[in-house]
Amino acid sequence: MKGIAYFLLILTVPLTLYLISGDKVIYYPPDEQHLEAQEELACLGCHGDDEAYPRLDKHPPKDECFICHKPKPTPGNGQ
Ligand code: HEC
Ligand code: HEC
Repeated sequence: MKGIAYFLLILTVPLTLYLISGDKVIYYPPDEQHLEAQEELACLGCHGDDEAYPRLDKHPPKDECFICHKPKPTPGNGQ
């Protein structure tokens, strides 16, 4: 019996991590300006607070864009 409880506990850990990671990717358009931007600093050049296309107030505060954003896969750009 103990073994089963332990087994279930082990299963719960990755599941919880998976759920709180919110495994959700928000795609951005695979246009030139987005495909050229390969790092956060480039993104912030347009989407920083005082730039031309700031993110909304409700946007999550983290600045590691690529955790959550990826170019939309299209047949052709190899993804
Ligand atoms: C040269 C300016 C520029 C750069 C650099 C840029 N963006 Fe954008 N981004 C835009 C514009 C303009 C839009 C408006 C939507 C569109 O183009 O259709 C947009 C839209 C978006 C959207 C919303 C897409 C949607 O469907 O609502 C996301 C997410 C995004 N950008 C993320 C990023 C990330 C991440 C980077 C860095 C890899 C980045 N952007 C770099 C200009 C830029
Ligand atoms: C923790 C996840 C996460 C990270 C990290 C993240 N974003 Fe987002 N982003 C989101 C979510 C969620 C949305 C809202 C999508 C929706 O509601 O349509 C969003 C939306 C956007 C939009 C559309 C406008 C808006 O504010 O809703 C832009 C532009 C954008 N993000 C750019 C960026 C850039 C640039 C970075 C890096 C500096 C970044 N994001 C980092 C999760 C994230």
